[in-house]
Amino acid sequence: MEGAPTPTGNDALQTAKRLVKETIPKRKKIFTASILCMLGVSFFTAALAYTTKLIVNDVFVAKDAKAAIEVAIIVIVVSLSKSLFHYGNAVLQTVLNRSISSSYQKEAFEKTLRREISFFNGKHASDHMAQIRLYGMAAGQAVTVLCSRFLTEILTLLALFVVMFLQDALMTLYSILIIPVIFGLVSFLSRKIRKVAKEETDLSGHYFAAGSEALAGVRTVKSYNLERKSIDKFNSSVDALEDRIFGISKVTAATHPIMEFLGGLVLGVFVIYAAWQTINYGKTPGEFTAFITAFLLAYQPAAKISKLWVELQKSLTQSFFMLQLIDTKPQSVSYGNKSLDGSLGSITFSDVSFGYENDDVSIDKVSFHLNHGEKVAIVGKSGAGKSTLVDLILGFYGPDNGIIKIGSTEISSILPTALKNHIAFISQDVFLFDDTIEENIRDGYSSASKEEVNIAVRSAQVDNFTADFPLGLQTIVGSNGSNLSGGQKQRVAIARGLLKKASIYIFDEATSALDVENEREIMTAMLKTLESETVIFITHRPALLDYVDKVLMLENGKVVGFDEPKKIEKTSAAFRDLFGALT
Ligand SMILES: Nc1ncnc2c1ncn2[C@@H]1O[C@H](COP(=O)(O)OP(=O)(O)O)[C@@H](O)[C@H]1O
Ligand SMILES: [Mg+2]
Repeated sequence: MEGAPTPTGNDALQTAKRLVKETIPKRKKIFTASILCMLGVSFFTAALAYTTKLIVNDVFVAKDAKAAIEVAIIVIVVSLSKSLFHYGNAVLQTVLNRSISSSYQKEAFEKTLRREISFFNGKHASDHMAQIRLYGMAAGQAVTVLCSRFLTEILTLLALFVVMFLQDALMTLYSILIIPVIFGLVSFLSRKIRKVAKEETDLSGHYFAAGSEALAGVRTVKSYNLERKSIDKFNSSVDALEDRIFGISKVTAATHPIMEFLGGLVLGVFVIYAAWQTINYGKTPGEFTAFITAFLLAYQPAAKISKLWVELQKSLTQSFFMLQLIDTKPQSVSYGNKSLDGSLGSITFSDVSFGYENDDVSIDKVSFHLNHGEKVAIVGKSGAGKSTLVDLILGFYGPDNGIIKIGSTEISSILPTALKNHIAFISQDVFLFDDTIEENIRDGYSSASKEEVNIAVRSAQVDNFTADFPLGLQTIVGSNGSNLSGGQKQRVAIARGLLKKASIYIFDEATSALDVENEREIMTAMLKTLESETVIFITHRPALLDYVDKVLMLENGKVVGFDEPKKIEKTSAAFRDLFGALT
């Protein structure tokens, strides 16, 4: 949300309305029970204030010992009831808060994960996680404040006003005069809070990114002696975040002393007024005690309301950004609904160009055609555009110009899930879930039979190393495969890809961590399994070119050679430059 404008008061209001509409109707029972508790709390708080009149007039002024027992019993029963309702209310508030916060965290995570690939460029995973957590909690907080904590305080305040009014109408009206003053103050503070709250959201993302970046890359950090640099980076993100949180507390804390002062002002005037009334008009001391008690008790909810209001601005600001996240539709390349079942695995690029945001073209007017079942190697220097070309086939990005077809269907008209089912992608950076080797392989095709898994395991030579593990295929790979070597991880990833029943297989330097001999064996086994499928290899190794029907050479995003491996040496000067003479 960096660079996004600070939400206005109206944004906050719209956010509040929507949050309540989306959450409360689904939680009618909790909400009804919580209303009952609120009514209980406010009624018994007011009743407690009223009992002071009985204490002073019936017991002390009348000097009545028998009345003392009755009044004592009333006081005990009233305060017990108040406590019970208070407890119920607090529990229900927590239930409401947690349930709303977790359901929004789930939704925000799903919406984040479903966003297009480019949404994740240049932003750390933990940055997203920090946001999801912060947003979800803010939304739970906002609804709880709006629908329970606020209401409790307002009802209590109203009930206490009734008690005050019954004792002295004039003084009650006078105390009400301070309400507009409080209102003006609070709305001033609210504006400040919304601005600071937005900054806190951004900064807590930086905080998590700085920390987990260093921890995830701990080997590099240590081997280059970069501890100091990482620590400094983290420290400055903590300081910046703390600074903002302090800013929020400063504003929130200001509500308390100001309210206290206003309360004292009313009380001071009241003492003079009460003395004058008692002396001249014979009002009872009990009435004044009840009024003062009600007033003092009313101070608490009034102070809380103003504090809650200011805090609410923070949760609403963060919820506002959460709703923006939830509402943003993924910019999917393929929005169509055509399925690809039975469609062949041929690929056609016609004059395709593509550039990343604010960048030069990474794919420049590329045209080529692969027949179904063909085996192709894509070669070229680093940064030539090989991975980008693959991303276009996978529909991670849409071309700026030109047309890409699979079979006879344009990519943009294919149902996104159908496209992904049609292609098996084994990427340069292997990602494994922290699960067993077998489960990771089964992610390729979850309902595969034991026999199918075994074929994939053998073709990718996963059995070569799992044979030495006591738990075999049931070995846990660790977080992102950290218990396996680079080459072992690649083999698991290849097995996972092979298991998928796709018609196009793409290997993006997927065997780069294997030794030459291993690679040859895997290639032979793999190609036997994938005899009738279209296979694309991205590779830097000339040895792999023996296995393919065609070689596609890229340079600066342009096709500078496309021919059979035996002929490309002659037809492409760029190829000769890169690999020299192969024979
Ligand atoms: N996510 C990205 N955002 C911006 N530019 C990118 C991104 N990924 C790659 N590029 C740029 O696109 C060009 C091609 O990159 P890539 O396809 O990864 O090359 P290769 O796989 O051939 O090494 C490079 O100039 C690279 O800097
Ligand atoms: Mg690449």
